[in-house]
Amino acid sequence: MGNQKNIWISALVLVAFLQKVSGLSNTQVCNPGRVSDTIHNYGAKTINGTQYIPFSHYAGKHVLIVNVATY
Ligand SMILES: *[C@@H]1O[C@H](CO)[C@@H](O)[C@H](O)[C@H]1NC(C)=O
Repeated sequence: MGNQKNIWISALVLVAFLQKVSGLSNTQVCNPGRVSDTIHNYGAKTINGTQYIPFSHYAGKHVLIVNVATY
């Protein structure tokens, strides 16, 4: 359980850092106290879209999540 919490905290810190560095003014406040789910319940497609990788495959490992999405 401690590792799951650390992954969430690391991801949130990374997002906050990137928003600060990028100088984006269109930011949203994230309240980690309201997060009741775990990242292990999610996954993502590979960049070529052919495979779905569940994040649970990385349970217990250090993971760096980089969100490169635009909107
Ligand atoms: C798509 O990406 C996966 C993961 O990197 C790789 O195993 C697979 O061979 C790739 N497929 C194609 C068609 O490039």
